[in-house]
Amino acid sequence: MGALGSTGLRILHFGDVHLPFPPGALRDPGVLHPKRLVALLNYRARRAAKYADAAQKLDGLCDFLRREPVDWILYTGDTLNQGLEKEYMVAAEPLARVLGMARGGALAVPGNHDLYTGASVGLYRRLFGPRLPKGDMPGAAGQGGYPLVRFMGEEAVAIGLNSAVPHFAFWDSSGTLDGEELEALGRLLDSPEVARRRWVFVMTHYPFLDTDWLHGLRGTEAFWKLLEGRKNVVLLHGHNHRNYAAAAPGGLPVYCCGSLSKRDAEGFWLFEPFAGSLNARRGVWRNARFSLEPVAAGEDADA
Ligand SMILES: [Fe+2]
Ligand SMILES: [Fe+2]
Repeated sequence: MGALGSTGLRILHFGDVHLPFPPGALRDPGVLHPKRLVALLNYRARRAAKYADAAQKLDGLCDFLRREPVDWILYTGDTLNQGLEKEYMVAAEPLARVLGMARGGALAVPGNHDLYTGASVGLYRRLFGPRLPKGDMPGAAGQGGYPLVRFMGEEAVAIGLNSAVPHFAFWDSSGTLDGEELEALGRLLDSPEVARRRWVFVMTHYPFLDTDWLHGLRGTEAFWKLLEGRKNVVLLHGHNHRNYAAAAPGGLPVYCCGSLSKRDAEGFWLFEPFAGSLNARRGVWRNARFSLEPVAAGEDADA
């Protein structure tokens, strides 16, 4: 990827598309899972209308990428609603199409709505796996297949962690940073090819700063310990459906991409690392198209 160089590097981060149920998706017997039955009531009452145009927003992102090409795309998951087979079958192609639009490549991790039940994990592997970008260092992954690594030219690298865990109980929507994955992350951060890079984007679905036991991220103590003293790390996540920037303890920047498709809250981030600073610009939906708002990094610390 030498042609991409270290100047003019453009990295787009998005997630939480939540494509509506395709026709026939709810005829799956898996819909009788207690977690799904309860969530369906909530979906019908509150969620469906807000994400009804998600496919158009994904098309809108394609249109943006044609107008404003980027080198790399980082995707932090939640493509679906309930991880039913038909959902994967219909969503795999449009998701792969968008991720394939970056000049250099992409990296993707699943969200909790992609690994909704134990059965969803197998469906994700079988129906999304072949269409999603492979990492550059398969040997660095633990047994679960993560972390994934994507070298983004000479200056930057992305490391994708899977924090989505399929809980049986509908009231537990927490995520977890797995110990084996964190050990692998530590080895990666210490490896010369990662440590020498100016920008190390560590990405996962769950918010790093949200530690609520039932809805937040577990395992963060070990994670923050791993990051102590590291100055080249930028943290990216999704799950919260509003776009914001924040600072972690120790000052590391944290960016939440928000939802690409939530009505009246659509967003993504575009990062342009340049001369030692990370220029972060917010993507917004205006007049039925995505465009960029100039934004100072860390301006909106409302996590
Ligand atoms: Fe989400
Ligand atoms: Fe989520």
